[in-house]
Amino acid sequence: MNRWKTIVEPFRIHSVEPAHFSTVEERTAWLEEAGHNLFNLRADRVLIDLLTDSGTGAMSRDQWAAIQQGDESYAGSPSWYRFLAAVQNLFPFEHVIPTHQGRAAEKILFSVIGGPGKVIPNNTHFDTTRANVEFTGAEAVDLVIAEGKRPELEHPFKGNMDVVALEELILARGAQNIPVVFVTITNNSGGGQPVSLANLRAVRAVCDKYDLPLFLDGCRFAENAWFIHEREEGQQDRSIVDIVRDIGALADGMTMSAKKDGMANIGGWLAMNDDALAVQCRNMLILTEGFPTYGGLAGRDLEAIAQGLAEVVDPNYLRYRIRSTAYLADALSAAGVPVVRPAGGHAVYLDARSLLSHIPPLQYPGQALATALYLQGGIRGCEIGTVMFGRQPDGSEIPAAMDLVRLAIPRRTYTQSHIDYVIEVVTWVAERASELKGMRIVDEPPALRHFTARFGPL
Ligand code: F0G
Repeated sequence: MNRWKTIVEPFRIHSVEPAHFSTVEERTAWLEEAGHNLFNLRADRVLIDLLTDSGTGAMSRDQWAAIQQGDESYAGSPSWYRFLAAVQNLFPFEHVIPTHQGRAAEKILFSVIGGPGKVIPNNTHFDTTRANVEFTGAEAVDLVIAEGKRPELEHPFKGNMDVVALEELILARGAQNIPVVFVTITNNSGGGQPVSLANLRAVRAVCDKYDLPLFLDGCRFAENAWFIHEREEGQQDRSIVDIVRDIGALADGMTMSAKKDGMANIGGWLAMNDDALAVQCRNMLILTEGFPTYGGLAGRDLEAIAQGLAEVVDPNYLRYRIRSTAYLADALSAAGVPVVRPAGGHAVYLDARSLLSHIPPLQYPGQALATALYLQGGIRGCEIGTVMFGRQPDGSEIPAAMDLVRLAIPRRTYTQSHIDYVIEVVTWVAERASELKGMRIVDEPPALRHFTARFGPL
């Protein structure tokens, strides 16, 4: 192994964009204007934007070059065939249906297979996945292993599904009411934690026993494969591509947001082996996205994704990617800041419930911490807790399983010194955590409230 500690970014910078500096006084006014919701901020009022790793990464020289080859033919574009080959090289599903992003794939799939009385198990549904399931009247059930709900606990595969609970759910609700079993890799809402090949095989076995299809929410498949490569017995000498293919071979289909491990700024797909299901989904696609050889995308987007899929499985890239996330988590842990352990693939999750234990969950400790990081350092993170998940379909409100603040790291975008600054600001705020106050919601929409709700301090 390499004996040097410094993380050498596996790229040189080819084109730069300005960072936006501001003062605490300016940010105080901007935060007020935004209703204390960081989604409402103008992005040029943010210095380090860790709101999401979705569509915010830097594309490579080769992706920009590929964009020039974009062929915008309505039907049968060569760009479509390059995209299809790149997807099927990793995930050899029969049918690949291009969509403008992940939630469009979810919307199409669940419109076809969801509906009242149906139950969809997942390790943990991402918020748009849950919303798309519930929008059809179906129920979304999270079945991550118990270890996955304990932020401080070290475990190599905290994204694993509880297969005993899965079987109990199937027996309790009836296999005929479960149109699909989902596994999200990595488990974003559970801390960006990976799922092991062994667990996927165990879930597959349960699915086979009850004749249920298994689908992947594959947004961060390459990061998940890297964790398997590093942590699962017998995987160290295998290539990332082989591990990805193993993951794909265990499933009957997938939804994908190419804004993550597609390394692109937009895009996604829905894929499956079931011919009849594919016909229904393509009909929906034509209604809402576009013709089946471009979906919701321009030919140039298909090219960027095809090239991105070749780059994301590069072990030099993945080593840097996962090490740089761990660098942030480890430095914060060493400074006494409670974070979800071990570090996730794409993000570090601050445990706001633990750090701000004086603020009860229904006063949104995650929101209080996220807004404090913006105020003090111009850093934009994202609450993943009671604001995001507390509102129930019946209108009541309960604390989420955890109150986290996610610092998501855009791919290939920030350097180690940007991250050193983040460490400095988070540590400073954490040392003064007892001074932070809870928040209340002043105004909220009926669903996905975290995007647009307005808050007031208590
Ligand atoms: N599934 C997972 C696990 C996700 O993380 C996301 C998006 C989606 C589905 C939906 O994909 O945004 O392309 O429609 N996650 C982003 C995030 C938004 O910030 O974690 P999309």
